[in-house]
Amino acid sequence: MADWSPETYLTFEDERTRPARDLLNAVPLADPAFVIDIGCGPGNSTELLVERFPAARLLGIDTSPAMLETARARLPGVEFRLADAADFRPDAPPELLFANAVFQWLPGHLDLFVRLVSELAPGGVLAVQMPDNLAEPTHALMREVAAGGCWAAKLAGAARAPLPPVRTYYEALKPHCRLLDIWHTVYNHPLADAAAVVEWVRSTGLKPFLDPLDADERAGFLAAYTAKVTDAYPPLAGGGVLLRFPRLFIVATR
Ligand SMILES: C[S@@+](CC[C@H](N)C(=O)[O-])C[C@H]1O[C@@H](n2cnc3c(N)ncnc32)[C@H](O)[C@@H]1O
Repeated sequence: MADWSPETYLTFEDERTRPARDLLNAVPLADPAFVIDIGCGPGNSTELLVERFPAARLLGIDTSPAMLETARARLPGVEFRLADAADFRPDAPPELLFANAVFQWLPGHLDLFVRLVSELAPGGVLAVQMPDNLAEPTHALMREVAAGGCWAAKLAGAARAPLPPVRTYYEALKPHCRLLDIWHTVYNHPLADAAAVVEWVRSTGLKPFLDPLDADERAGFLAAYTAKVTDAYPPLAGGGVLLRFPRLFIVATR
């Protein structure tokens, strides 16, 4: 994939940070010594961790150089490192592994979660939030446009794998956890219009569909996708549209 765009991602910073805040509110830790933000992005989730745990050693990891550059400028006192969550191993047992909106990109994350829990300090917490929105019109329509155009062959592998059912996470993690809390929250984000819905997914879920296309194909894809999104998200009585956004939360305490 092409590198992420911190600027586009942060267009909806308040909305995107809200699940990170809700996840952190559910973390039952008072004074962790070592906290890692996995997939820290531009540092918005890391900033919440700094505010809540000012005395902790904080490390943010991410695979995107552009995101890390923005995070370093935002939080100069925090260590940020280029690393892939798939094979990242902490150099000391952390009390908190925090991962907001990253593990949906790693299809093998279930096994990874079990390993990460085993790397926590005793009593430590793995806290994860992942969008669970592949059945929403935003994502169903990406797949529909991908399959219906001249770009179909190029985009055959673009769609993300759906998350496993909640019971699969529960059964895999419970034997390794003292406490395990898994829940869904469905957010309803009021946005200006359908174009804003497209803008929202453009820097995240739509990336794997746009990155493989050339400029003409990308313009054609976006036009077809925007037309369908406009039909699927009709204007509200008072103006604007509502973006329904289900998310899965996991808080696993070793
Ligand atoms: C949707 S952003 C989340 C940013 C931030 N945590 C937040 O709460 O808004 C996802 C981030 O995960 C990073 N990412 C994607 N795959 C990754 C991987 N395998 N390992 C580490 N980071 C990854 C991306 O570069 C991006 O910065």
